Amino acid sequence: MDDKKLIFSAIQPTGTFTLGNYIGAVRNWAPLQDKYDCIYCIADMHAITVKQEPAKLRQNSLAAYALLMACGMDPKRSILFIQSHAPTHALLNWVLCCNTQFGELSRMTQFKDKSQRHPDDVNAGLFTYPSLMAADILAYNADMVPVGVDQKQHLELARNIAQRFNQRYGDFFTLPEPLILEVGAKVMSLQDPTKKMSKSDENPNACVLILDDKDTIIRKFKRAVTDSEAEVVFREGKDGINNLMTIYSSVTGKDFAAIEAEFAGKGYGDFKLAVGEAVADHLEPVRTEFDRLIADKAYLKECYTTGAEQAMKISSRIVSKVYHKVGFVDPR
Ligand code: TRP
Repeated sequence: MDDKKLIFSAIQPTGTFTLGNYIGAVRNWAPLQDKYDCIYCIADMHAITVKQEPAKLRQNSLAAYALLMACGMDPKRSILFIQSHAPTHALLNWVLCCNTQFGELSRMTQFKDKSQRHPDDVNAGLFTYPSLMAADILAYNADMVPVGVDQKQHLELARNIAQRFNQRYGDFFTLPEPLILEVGAKVMSLQDPTKKMSKSDENPNACVLILDDKDTIIRKFKRAVTDSEAEVVFREGKDGINNLMTIYSSVTGKDFAAIEAEFAGKGYGDFKLAVGEAVADHLEPVRTEFDRLIADKAYLKECYTTGAEQAMKISSRIVSKVYHKVGFVDPR
């Protein structure tokens, strides 16, 4: 790799991505490849911190990998791999765990949320999850990490762990910076626009999936909850309309003023249909490319095998240095 800054990010393979994952994260990752060296990873090891059905997890990881590629991640320009294929992350995680405090991990809001949601399985992996996430990033000495708001606290912890290691053992890790991406940071539920769009919502109309077909997408938008006014304007208190405007803006590139002008005097029915159509058209090439890739298992395998080799090449050098620094005997 050259002297460009290095980006690392990862996404968990929880079934297909939502429109929220797409607009808020994955979609912004592809353009970064023009300016930076990028490493993108399917975080299957993070996924098993909550119960998974093995066959399903395998299927989801492959689908997530294909979807990354369908969203523009290019295995010729970037390193695309599956986390469990690079055992270096787990090797580094152990050292980082020994440099992470119980108190720090206890303060993580995601841990508190998830342990409340799964009270029957508050496992040690769920608790030390942020240390593994720090290992993902630090195993490459990444400069920047594109993250959504929900992962900012984990990234801050990763910086603290890196800093603590550097103080103890001498400067070594780069402190990773968060890369906050501009538009459409947060997509809300179509049924309750005060909540984040989530695929675990019981109401299937609340959440649009990237691989939903055109009719399904349009139907979900037609049923979106709005308000009792009839004005397409971005204003506090109009959560439903604000959300639809954000979505429309991010898939068409139009700003809010242009959208307000376009729908002045028109009803919500027209607006919702337009948003549904714009989203469906925008996602169609992604869906087509995904279908092509997921049918070509041999090619997918070639890509993730190469990705893992590239990831291992960088991370194993870093992990060896870390093992030496903490005082382990060099194996050769
Ligand atoms: N924890 C992240 C999420 O759930 C996924 C993730 C794992 C990640 N390792 C990472 C993100 C490293 C950024 C950097 O969304």
